[in-house]
Amino acid sequence: EKGGYDHFMLKEIYEQPKSIRDTLRGRLLPEQGLIKMGGVFEYREKIVNAERIIIIGCGTSWHAGLVAEYLFEDLARIPVEVEYASEFRYRNPVITEKDVVIAISQSGETADTLAAIKLAKEKGATIFGICNVVGSSIARETHAGAYTHAGPEIGVASTKAFTAQVAVLALMALRIAHDRGVLKQSYYHQLLTELDSIPEKIEKMLESDAQARHISELYKDAQNFLYLGRGFNFPVALEGALKLKEISYIHAEGYPAAEMKHGPIALIDENMPVVVIAPKSGQYEKIVSNIQEVKARNGKVIAVVSNGDSEIARMADHVIEIEETAEVFSPLLTTIPLQLLSYHIAVMRGCNVDQPRNLAKSVTVE
Ligand code: M6R
Repeated sequence: EKGGYDHFMLKEIYEQPKSIRDTLRGRLLPEQGLIKMGGVFEYREKIVNAERIIIIGCGTSWHAGLVAEYLFEDLARIPVEVEYASEFRYRNPVITEKDVVIAISQSGETADTLAAIKLAKEKGATIFGICNVVGSSIARETHAGAYTHAGPEIGVASTKAFTAQVAVLALMALRIAHDRGVLKQSYYHQLLTELDSIPEKIEKMLESDAQARHISELYKDAQNFLYLGRGFNFPVALEGALKLKEISYIHAEGYPAAEMKHGPIALIDENMPVVVIAPKSGQYEKIVSNIQEVKARNGKVIAVVSNGDSEIARMADHVIEIEETAEVFSPLLTTIPLQLLSYHIAVMRGCNVDQPRNLAKSVTVE
């Protein structure tokens, strides 16, 4: 059932070209310039006219929500708040009938997310769900929604569910942006074609994991890791750190790269590996200077960069290249090497990657 792979997690990492393709199938129609999402668009008016969107989730699903914040604000120009379901539900949040809530959950059974949905529903909000498990409690509790078609995810560390969530959220953001008339037509069409090419690009990136293995070998005994990213790739830094800590038990923290100087920079010395997510983007020069700050303190830089980047290659200790893509979709690619890195490190440390200690696949307790 592991399809020849040593672990479910590795199988699920390698399934991503397919799971994203399955998630986009029938929804993304680049030749016709269309995005079709039946389940969501029963409530189309609500979301297109929303004055704000609140996104709730836990763990990795919350990270997908953070990516969506950048997508919805940048493309659709709708203000977004992303909340941990557990904090949202207990703080007497201000919610009205005008609000649109998007709940994200792979399992569809996370207790805190379910309770947050019930609360928002009582206050009259319209709730969309993005779940992977068909017929799950969250899928049933929401007004409308879209499934991620990632297929069953067995590994406790979420991998293919995350990229499928981001793919669905990208579809929603593009469709809403289009309906609101806030995107240039040519840019919209360019993005549809680009999104369609993502599975192929991931396939290419998965052809070899030699670089991730090599880096894992060198840093598997580190006690701490720092992950830095900016903009669309700030949530990827959080996700990379979560993946490493949950399966390898190495302490890891993700930060927006610009926050480094407000505290975490004090941690940097020659024993600190710093993973910097630095594909070509609007903030490229800024991240280059963040890398210089790490190097000036003898930190070890592992940089995830766009194909052929020579500037960062000269500064970093190691680089992992990703395929070229639009900045808005870059999280779908930059996530992949971080999954592989945490997987290999955990295996090399002898950890049970599919069933890490103290964790369950779905957290049905509050
Ligand atoms: O099933 P859900 O997406 O609601 O689960 C949320 C979190 O429990 C989950 O993402 C958790 O953080 C994973 N172990 C992360 O890999």
